[in-house]
This record gives sequence, C-alpha cells and structure tokens, in this order.
Amino acid sequence: MATTTTAEPTRRDFLYIATGSVAAVGAAAALWPLIDQMNPSSAVLALASIEIDLTPIQVGQSVTFKFRGHPLFVRRRSPAEIATAKAVPVSELIDPIARNLNLPDDAPATDANRETHPEWLVVSGVCTHLGCTPTAYEGDFGGWLCHCHGSQYDVAGRVRKGPAPQNLEIPVYSFLSPTRVKVG
Ligand code: FES
Repeated sequence: MATTTTAEPTRRDFLYIATGSVAAVGAAAALWPLIDQMNPSSAVLALASIEIDLTPIQVGQSVTFKFRGHPLFVRRRSPAEIATAKAVPVSELIDPIARNLNLPDDAPATDANRETHPEWLVVSGVCTHLGCTPTAYEGDFGGWLCHCHGSQYDVAGRVRKGPAPQNLEIPVYSFLSPTRVKVG
C-alpha cells in the first residue's frame, strides 16, 4: 500500500506504510508482546530498525517511509543532482555540520559526509525548525521545502534557507546489499 503525491510524473514522493518493502526487524519486534506488557522505556523502543528494499525506487524519486514514528526520506539522486550537491562549498551552508549519526559529531557537511553511496540519500523527514515534514522537489535548491515556515533544503538534505537551524539528520543506517538498506 502506498499513497502518492506527485510533483512531476517522474518525481514522486511515496509514503509506504507497513508494506512488504518495509519490515520491522530485530529482537525488539520479536519480543513486542512481552515488552508491551512491561511498559517499555523509550530506550527499548529506540532499538527498532527497518529494512528498505531499494529496487522499486527510480532515479529522481524521493520515497517517504516511516521510521520510529517519523517520516524518513530515501531519495535516489540523479547524476545532475549529485553533481549539484557536491559543488556546494561548506562555507556557503547555514549549518556546516554533517548531522550524520554514522560520523563524528564535528564532521563537515560535505555531500560525501551526507551519504554512503552518492546515488542514495537516507535522511530524516523532520524539519529541524519545528518538526513539520518538508515536501520534495520544491524550493529553490531542488531538495525539499517546508511549507510550515519556508525552510528549504538541498538535494543533500542540507538547510539552505531558514528558519530551520540545522541540516536534516542522517540516521544510523547501512547497506545490507546494493539494493537493501537497514536503518536503525
Ligand atoms: S517547521 Fe519547517 S520551517 Fe518551521
């Protein structure tokens, strides 16, 4: 099941909710009935992770998944988008920090520090201003526009126009194969 909002025919922003493409994994999911009875702490719930099958995602698409109760964007970037993102000097950025949970806290916000494979961007869909969900392929930088107060993000999820103070967060994730990612 997926709901779709379409900016352009080839640039679609899907929301996958509990489809075959997303499966909760790990001990936290297997033990859910027991944990639920024990009124689990947020720390326990935070262990949840998801696996995402990348094969349905076409070049130029940004797909929205649900991760730990919040939107997560997985975007398959085109060569032009990658080149645009890599050409931006860190000195031009509002937030010069990568905000990538896979890297040291002070890693600079180069495009390379925002992804594992240039074609794939895996990034939080929570605006760093007040938590709205930005819309893909809108705004002046080709990334996302947050309609709540006008923040704009580029194709690496870096904030380029406020009031959002920080880049969209990159969660902990890893590639299980060239077409499968585990987030969390
Ligand atoms: S919540 Fe996104 S700009 Fe305010």
